[in-house]
Amino acid sequence: MVNPSSEDVEKFHRWSRTYERSLGQFFFFGPVHRAVLNLVEAHLGGRMPESVLDVGCGTGRLLRRAAVRWPTARLVGVDPAEGMIKLAQELTPSATFLVGKGEAVPLPDSSVDVAFSTVSFHHWHDQAAGLREIARVLRPHGLFCLADGVLPSIAAGIIAHRRIHTHREMAALFVDAGLDIASQTRIMAGGVLATVGAKS
Ligand SMILES: C[S@@+](CC[C@H](N)C(=O)[O-])C[C@H]1O[C@@H](n2cnc3c(N)ncnc32)[C@H](O)[C@@H]1O
Repeated sequence: MVNPSSEDVEKFHRWSRTYERSLGQFFFFGPVHRAVLNLVEAHLGGRMPESVLDVGCGTGRLLRRAAVRWPTARLVGVDPAEGMIKLAQELTPSATFLVGKGEAVPLPDSSVDVAFSTVSFHHWHDQAAGLREIARVLRPHGLFCLADGVLPSIAAGIIAHRRIHTHREMAALFVDAGLDIASQTRIMAGGVLATVGAKS
């Protein structure tokens, strides 16, 4: 049997060739990026992050937008799909892009001020391990904003989806990983939940 996780990564590797041109960038990914950047900027309250990480970064579009807001920040993108990372590095040579997974972030402990992950978490094979990794690489008072599809609360207990969660389940995953919940906001007409966690 094919490992579903490697199948996902292979799919994203192939998609990298057309990813930048897909219509979804305009209607979906772009608005998600703007919403999460606005949320984190509000939580930062004027502070400038020194380092910004995007896990499951694709071709690096969120980091390119982050660079406009925080021009002095060191930008790092991590993604398991080699095609995505290769293109990201070509498009944003000033940032660092690394092949890797959320479950094993290739960065030292306490080295990141702000981390993002958009529309990627439901592909992570071991989400709890991934969140522990984010908590490990965040500096004290660092922020992590995760945006992904959300199950309506009414579906809790009826639909058991292993990798898409209700807002309560998502909050519990953050807390288990050692992250305090700073906010949970529904974006994209309620279809996407942006959870901001803080490391104490
Ligand atoms: C739909 S794309 C979203 C890319 C980007 N975050 C964006 O908003 O445009 C999902 C990304 O998650 C990546 N991904 C899949 N499994 C992952 C894992 N275990 N850890 C981190 N990223 C993963 C894929 O390779 C893909 O680039």
